[in-house]
Amino acid sequence: MNEVSPIVAASSEAFDVQRVREDFPALHQDVHGKPLVYLDSAATTLKPQSVIDAVDEVYARDCANIHRAVHLLSQRATARFEEAREKVRAFLNASKKTEIVFTRGTTEAINLVSHSWGRSSLREGDEVLVTELEHHSNIVPWQILCQQTGAKLVVVPMTDRGEVLREAFENKLSERTRLVAMAHVSNALGTVLPVSELIALAHERGALVLLDGAQAVSHVDVDVQALDCDFYAFSGHKLYGPTGIGVLYGKERLLDKMPPYQGGGDMIRSVTFEETIYNDLPYKFEAGTPHIAGAVGLGAAIDYFSSFDAELIHAHENAVLHYATEALKAVPGLRLIGTAPGKVAALSFLMESAHPHDIGTIVDAEGVAIRTGHHCAQPVMEHFGIAATARASLGMYNSRDDIDALVAALRKVRELFG
Ligand code: ALA
Repeated sequence: MNEVSPIVAASSEAFDVQRVREDFPALHQDVHGKPLVYLDSAATTLKPQSVIDAVDEVYARDCANIHRAVHLLSQRATARFEEAREKVRAFLNASKKTEIVFTRGTTEAINLVSHSWGRSSLREGDEVLVTELEHHSNIVPWQILCQQTGAKLVVVPMTDRGEVLREAFENKLSERTRLVAMAHVSNALGTVLPVSELIALAHERGALVLLDGAQAVSHVDVDVQALDCDFYAFSGHKLYGPTGIGVLYGKERLLDKMPPYQGGGDMIRSVTFEETIYNDLPYKFEAGTPHIAGAVGLGAAIDYFSSFDAELIHAHENAVLHYATEALKAVPGLRLIGTAPGKVAALSFLMESAHPHDIGTIVDAEGVAIRTGHHCAQPVMEHFGIAATARASLGMYNSRDDIDALVAALRKVRELFG
């Protein structure tokens, strides 16, 4: 599992993690009197100074509403907002800016598709396919939609290693499948789904595919044209950007036909009490004043991320993940949950005697931040017959030293709980 090839190991050494760490001010603090070891990037990544500065600058200098006024500040804010959209387009390799809709995050992007496309397209007897390893935000919107339309939610099971296999997927696809909504990468387990293969299968059956890319964008390459997914959702704050800003990518021909998700300012071309003409894409889906500084901050995050060779970031993270996997396996009484080959960035685990919340509390006292609980993926927990796990997750700024600190903190857990 997670074998690191000599090439990957060598390129990992080419990535100067100590230099990267200098860019993240939050890393340079003590918690409970110990240097912070941040291993919770699957929940949110820390922000580099350039992102903090970009957000700051919007409020300090270009503080105006967008698309609404002729004054200079508004023009500057509008230009920066639209530049950010272009950066997102390039990052995802979408063919057009009109295919990039700003949302509050992945959750809102998924809800947008479920409300707009789903309510106008699904009928009784239709099926929406999800996998067993989804985050709640890629389950509940489809459950609500199915309740409202009479469609059926169908679940592709995962294996005990946390994989979604082609055969299981094919078994659940049918001529009634209208949409497949699946994670690109599992938040609880780190599994990378074989999405290219699964998208092709879904398309053969005439189904659309939405990918939840929240956990993927910072850990694997994303090219929406190469993937040929119909929708792709992600959050800025999982890509070193601000919270409260996210993206829905959708193929233009689909977005064009979809009715608005929310009504309000900016999403209209003209309004009378008799009739409203909607704005062009993507504004049709961006009602109200958006998170302007958030979008600019996301643009800065993409600039920051893109200033590195993504291959080097991924190789570095994979090398740290490999090191962490071996180190945790050597901790007596520790059991890894989620062991799919090729997984990325997250290690869920249990320890004999200690509840995950106790593990989290004890390692926090040692300065080590991890997440504990069901990770908004209760069906994953149910699969393994557990209520919760402890989860350490990686960002580009983590090093082997962080893993050594985690392992040392886990020794304290063993001392206390046996
Ligand atoms: N979805 C985020 C996580 O996995 C919050 O922690």
